[in-house]
Amino acid sequence: MPVTFASSVPEDSSALILPLGKGKPLDTATKELSADAANLVKRAAEASRFEGDLGSIVEIFDETKHGTRRIVIVGAGNGDDTESLQKAGGAAMAKLLTSGETALAFDARTSGEKDAGSRMAFGALQRSWRLDSYRTKAPAKTKPTVEEIAVVANDAEAKRWDHFQALYAGIALARELVTEPPNIIHPQGFVERCRPLSELGVEIEVLDRDEMTELGMGALLGVAQGSIREPKLLVMRWDGTGGAQKNPVAFVGKGVTFDTGGISLKPGPGMEDMKFDMGGAAAVAGAMCALAGRKAKAHVVGVCGLVENMPGSNAQRPSDIVTTMSGQTVEVLNTDAEGRLVLCDAMHWTQEKYSPEVMVDLATLTGAMIIALGHEHGGCFSNDDGLADQLLAAGTGSGDKLWRMPLGKPYDKLIDSPIADIKNVGPREAGSITAAQFLQRFVKDGVKWAHLDIAGTVWMKSASNLWDKGATGYGVRLLDRFIADNFEG
Ligand code: BES
Ligand code: MN
Ligand code: ZN
Repeated sequence: MPVTFASSVPEDSSALILPLGKGKPLDTATKELSADAANLVKRAAEASRFEGDLGSIVEIFDETKHGTRRIVIVGAGNGDDTESLQKAGGAAMAKLLTSGETALAFDARTSGEKDAGSRMAFGALQRSWRLDSYRTKAPAKTKPTVEEIAVVANDAEAKRWDHFQALYAGIALARELVTEPPNIIHPQGFVERCRPLSELGVEIEVLDRDEMTELGMGALLGVAQGSIREPKLLVMRWDGTGGAQKNPVAFVGKGVTFDTGGISLKPGPGMEDMKFDMGGAAAVAGAMCALAGRKAKAHVVGVCGLVENMPGSNAQRPSDIVTTMSGQTVEVLNTDAEGRLVLCDAMHWTQEKYSPEVMVDLATLTGAMIIALGHEHGGCFSNDDGLADQLLAAGTGSGDKLWRMPLGKPYDKLIDSPIADIKNVGPREAGSITAAQFLQRFVKDGVKWAHLDIAGTVWMKSASNLWDKGATGYGVRLLDRFIADNFEG
């Protein structure tokens, strides 16, 4: 959806959207309207008990000399939420997307916050995203009508829009990868969707099954062997430092394009959710898209371990022992604890190849993470307090929130195997932590590492101000902010 900038409200926009902070007098938002329109807004606000609560809306229709115009006042809350303007813009879009309106104008000049109109438009874009390509019979009334957005703002703000646009492109890519069905987004399909990133200057490399066999990635390949879909290791590198930053920051994503559980088969009800088991990889791809799109002055590599976890006559069995690329052996007691098996080889390879000082992995790794944190925070496990603080700050600042979780020797003991070096599951208790301990055994000395278990945040069963129900694009804003605040000095 095209976003343009204008110094005053375009006359041909069909709907005008104005934000209002909670408890602020209405005329701060309506002062540029005609006296009649402002008066009507006032009466409508009183009648509907509108007070500026975040995302609440009051609207009127005004007769202008260019025809009828809808005027939407949207609550921007009390400022205790860093995303409030995004959410206000998103709330307006949720209301208007299929309303018949075609051209929206956001005028947030009275807000006082930097880039207020852009933030609203950014939120509106996020809320407008949907995947309609499989609906062949959607009734006309359910189809989106909004075609364009205008932001009323000065030139300086307009110049900064590229940044939001790039971030939105990254979020959209992540949501697309998560939402598309697993018969389309299998490992090869995932790779194909990411190939166009090369046009932004991202260097793309893809390792196939033979190359991974050669490298000894027995754990990743063990997961993949039950599927006829060939696994892929997708590597995306962006260097915006012109070679000045030698070792890239590394992001590693779990990309299980569908997780049936394998021979340790999951129960049928709800299994369809496991198309989002590549949400970590999608966040990594989306972040690379955003960083390259806005030409971030940092050197970053994103690595996605892409496999399909299927039962089948060649699938691995509970009690199989596999040898990882690191040389450590793993007793596979539960083929449904496959994410860690994919990540351990992807992480080891990443460290061998790029010697990163900082490595962050993202994964929809454990159901236990959802039991612990619900859908509000991702879990952050780290061997370095400074890195954890940076990530938590990026989470709070970006809206993709994180909560710190513990690691420690007593947890690590729980995954010692009686026959191999490690077993791939611990007891029921602390399931998210033992999964993190498993990964930590593949982190080299000196590498600052964090593991983000995002099982609860990549997919939502209900809509919010920034997304319709389904894929959230979680992780893209987080990783983008993490790089911006710590590596672009
Ligand atoms: N992909 C799942 C984790 C998951 C479950 C993510 C539900 C989002 C929603 C993962 O591969 C898995 O199956 N984990 C098991 C681990 C267990 C076998 C130790 C789990 O969480 O039950
Ligand atoms: Mn699983
Ligand atoms: Zn999984």
